[in-house]
Amino acid sequence: MNYKTQIKGRSLLTWLDWEPEEIRFLLDLSKNVKKESRRGKVKQRFAGKTLALLFEKRSTRTRCSFETAFGEEGGHPVNLSTADIQLGDKETIEDTARVLGRMFNAIQFRGFKQSTVETLAQFSGIPVYNGLTDNFHPTQALADIMTLEENFGRCEGKTLCFVGDGRNNVARSLMVICSKLGVHFTIITPRALCPDEGLIAKCAPFRAKSGARFRVTEDISGVIGADALYTDVWASMGEEDKKAERTALLSPYQVNSALMVKTGRTDTVFLHCLPAVRGEEVTPHILDGPQSLVWDQAENRKHTIKGIMLATLGCL
Ligand code: CP
Ligand code: NVA
Repeated sequence: MNYKTQIKGRSLLTWLDWEPEEIRFLLDLSKNVKKESRRGKVKQRFAGKTLALLFEKRSTRTRCSFETAFGEEGGHPVNLSTADIQLGDKETIEDTARVLGRMFNAIQFRGFKQSTVETLAQFSGIPVYNGLTDNFHPTQALADIMTLEENFGRCEGKTLCFVGDGRNNVARSLMVICSKLGVHFTIITPRALCPDEGLIAKCAPFRAKSGARFRVTEDISGVIGADALYTDVWASMGEEDKKAERTALLSPYQVNSALMVKTGRTDTVFLHCLPAVRGEEVTPHILDGPQSLVWDQAENRKHTIKGIMLATLGCL
């Protein structure tokens, strides 16, 4: 199969419509991108190309990854916050998409509604990357899997345990990518924050194909035997008003030394997409301790995002 041709021109909105082999192609490519970067080898594969970076929400890692990965290879990234452009306010998303499609080679969108990024992809005619919506954070999930593979070799058959807000964008994207790649995935969350049945059902055929197991439990003993524990903020961007309610619900789910010990293993690694709130979802001891891979994870955002752009823009 020629994945180079197959992936060129594609958008990345959720991973739901990507074949496991295509995701594998991107992972291997991203690992090569990292090796090149370590060797100080910067090519000019995006020369003459332009990328629109649209932000309704704030970002450090995602914005810096897209901007530096594209710019250092000769591309021209243009950063556009909602204060700069007409998106969805004075102009429809469809019309904005049509215009950007005439001027740019690709679009990254970070914001609230999943429907916005889907509409941009439908009407722009160019690759669109979901840099986080309320529903999904797919570029994060690729960097997470790459980080797991750097630590464990291949990710198939490993057990990843997400502890915290089980229905947030990060947990949902991990659910999709793990089911595609054969990673056993457990969500440990209170009943009120369980992921929606619709997405779980959508992933069932992927799990049947890959052999991945999936479960949701309220019981923190679910961490026993986990290769990796993952957590994220208790209140995501746009949910700041739910902070008190979430703190009450999620305090028993903090990732701390006792929870790491509960895994029954000494080699369990810790992941977090960042930004983190030390003392809430994770203690400083764990986030800054020897089991934490969070800085590798953050760096891998850039390598995976470069890999995604190289492949979808046909710059290989
Ligand atoms: N992990 C992540 O997406 O970080 P930013 O919000 O800083 O982009
Ligand atoms: N769930 C978090 C992820 C941040 C990268 C949020 O949406 O704020």
